[in-house]
Amino acid sequence: MTIDKAELLRMLRARRRGYGLPGAFYNDPAVYALDLDAIFTRHWLCVGAACEIPLPGDYVTIPIGTTSVIVLRDQDSGIRAFFNTCRHRGARICDADRGHIRTLVCPYHRWTYKLSGALAYAPYMPDDFDRGAHGLRQVPVRTLCGAIYICLADDPPDFDRYADAMAPLLAPHRLQDAKLAASIDLIENANWKLAMENSRECYHCATQHRELMRTFLDLYDMADPGQSADIRAFWERCERDGVPSHIAEGPDFRASRLPFTHGARSITMDGEPAVARLLGDVPHNDIGSLRWVHYPTTFNHALGDYAVMVRMLPIGPQQTLVTTKFLVNSEAEEGKDYDLDRLTHVWTVTNEQDKALVERNQAGVNSIGYVPGPYAPAVEAGVIKFVDWYCDKLTRHLHGGSATQAAA
Ligand code: FES
Ligand SMILES: [Fe+2]
Repeated sequence: MTIDKAELLRMLRARRRGYGLPGAFYNDPAVYALDLDAIFTRHWLCVGAACEIPLPGDYVTIPIGTTSVIVLRDQDSGIRAFFNTCRHRGARICDADRGHIRTLVCPYHRWTYKLSGALAYAPYMPDDFDRGAHGLRQVPVRTLCGAIYICLADDPPDFDRYADAMAPLLAPHRLQDAKLAASIDLIENANWKLAMENSRECYHCATQHRELMRTFLDLYDMADPGQSADIRAFWERCERDGVPSHIAEGPDFRASRLPFTHGARSITMDGEPAVARLLGDVPHNDIGSLRWVHYPTTFNHALGDYAVMVRMLPIGPQQTLVTTKFLVNSEAEEGKDYDLDRLTHVWTVTNEQDKALVERNQAGVNSIGYVPGPYAPAVEAGVIKFVDWYCDKLTRHLHGGSATQAAA
């Protein structure tokens, strides 16, 4: 089934706030195409960590729907992003997820681009061909304390509000000086919104995440942690130790620092740090974790000994690429300061458990018997906030009369 713009607007107007979305929002190819247009080409997307590409010529490719973007470190050590599409006849240039290059060479007819994106070589083109007008198309890019954000729009929305709110909280973790210890891809056969909804609540954690719940405080983003005297005392102690611990929140993000349970000092199977060296300028491991989410692609945790960045990218109406990156102190040596299995174990099993849950969710909403059900505000407020944000963006986009092809 595919639905048109008028029907979508009617469904958005008719939706009951605090309830799940109609099934079409989770499985219809036309809604998926609209999501790519209204959400993924208009907002800043967290796509990776600057420490993944430390040297000039290091690159990663980012799949966003049918679009691929190259993010690279240029000759001057700046970070640039380009559409991974040749300016000759449009062939995709880079196939690999990551690698190192001196120049970008299109495999089709060998047009060759510098790391600045400038076209350096285009064989057999006429004398009056303007190479200067055929460099790779740049994609706006920003970095925020070691995280890379791109925006596919020509006129990106404001980024500074988010950056200004997050910078003090992120500062002590110094993710810009970290190193990438591991990057693990997982394909979830579910719509990206189901993956995001699942990540915004811990209603399911007690019964589904045995390993995570050894250390993880089941008090999710939208609960008011300040109501707890223990958490207020934790924040005061962190602040005294120079680790900012206020809540930061905006329409498309939220950050809070929360302690672990059972005296744990890290999210590992035994609660002890996975890495012998602290990450950043933090004073010790007893700082809990800074949890932050930024719609539509990422949620993260920065701990005393490591940071985990989870990125969710839509690759089909019912398929989402979930990539989990582990950042550690750049001086930490694998095998000496940390064991990779120990570092990644809790998150790897948790992600597999979540994959099963969101795929179960997808299967159920694909049924003709599905009707949207109510969220539990006490434990699913984060889901409600995300779904409201999504519906607002989609409604505005549809009313904006853009060239969106809502009907497939
Ligand atoms: S399409 Fe890239 S060189 Fe022809
Ligand atoms: Fe989960």
